[in-house]
Amino acid sequence: MNITITRTSSPKSKPNPEELGFGKYFTDHMFLMNYDREHGWHDARIVPFENLSLSPACAVFHYAQEMFEGLKAYKGANGKNLLFRPQKNIERMSNTNERLCIPPVDPDFALEAIKALVNVDVDWIPEGEGKSLYIRPFIIATDPFLGVHPSATYLFCIILSPVGAYYAEGINPVKIYVEDEYVRAVKGGMGFAKTGGNYAASLRAQQKAEEYGYSQVLWLDGIEHKYVDEVGAMNVFFLIDGELITPKLEGNILPGVTRDSVIELAKSFGVRVSERRLAIAEVFDAARNGKLDEAFGSGTAAVISPIGELNMDGEKVVINGGKIGALSQRLYDTLTGIQWGKVSDPFGWSVTV
Ligand code: COI
Repeated sequence: MNITITRTSSPKSKPNPEELGFGKYFTDHMFLMNYDREHGWHDARIVPFENLSLSPACAVFHYAQEMFEGLKAYKGANGKNLLFRPQKNIERMSNTNERLCIPPVDPDFALEAIKALVNVDVDWIPEGEGKSLYIRPFIIATDPFLGVHPSATYLFCIILSPVGAYYAEGINPVKIYVEDEYVRAVKGGMGFAKTGGNYAASLRAQQKAEEYGYSQVLWLDGIEHKYVDEVGAMNVFFLIDGELITPKLEGNILPGVTRDSVIELAKSFGVRVSERRLAIAEVFDAARNGKLDEAFGSGTAAVISPIGELNMDGEKVVINGGKIGALSQRLYDTLTGIQWGKVSDPFGWSVTV
């Protein structure tokens, strides 16, 4: 399929790179493609970034039939513009689509569309430490129909946002509240899918944690409230007595691309890595016995976010003196080094745009 390109006649001025934050600014263009049953996915186009015009009856507004992804383009030290493991995001997109009854998108074409849009707005990839161009592909159900039913029509859109750090803390450790009332997802639900409903379900708990002075929540499993699931909008890792532990993928947590990369990198450092069930009681026992050495969240937006304090039912534990640990720092440096093309890429993760 061809992608037609219509360039804007009024390019925007670029934001100050030091004030980017996360997801506040958008580039000059976006990618659009429509689906209907007669034509399948069709009319792939790059057009000036503008508001969408949609019927208020569209299925996405009422029943949240949608998917989204998040990946980044980096201004590489080698002069190339780089993507990090985009095929993994596209693979997850396919799994989300399947769960949400959204028609599949050809994976090779999805990558072509991402590259084409980044190339059109290539001047928007910000330069400087920790800065990148966040890529947000998403698909929404557009049928103007109030019956609860998979939509017959869809819109696939990709937008781009120059970003700095996701959290105000940057690489500094965050304080985490162990959520005991609300749950994010259960096995059989949509926890493994990247879809807006999971994030809507997280907002109340996030708000509660902030009211208590914590920046994020640690989710426990939805059935027994006993096992660790995820933290905020990230996967989570604990270094206990030399073992780097992360919850295994059992359908209720997001299969993060950064999570997978951290596992590979840590193994390559010779660290013992376990993907297994981890009871929150084991984490607190380890902390009480001085064996909880490090903890951190991982995600595309946040990269590696060290955890400096946990609070469960009023019991507080400080991890590594509230400072980033040696392993977290090494993982951060290596991962971002590969992403920005500053260190060698033995896994072949970088893809040139
Ligand atoms: C990401 O890490 O890319 C995310 O999608 C997390 C969040 C911004 C929703």
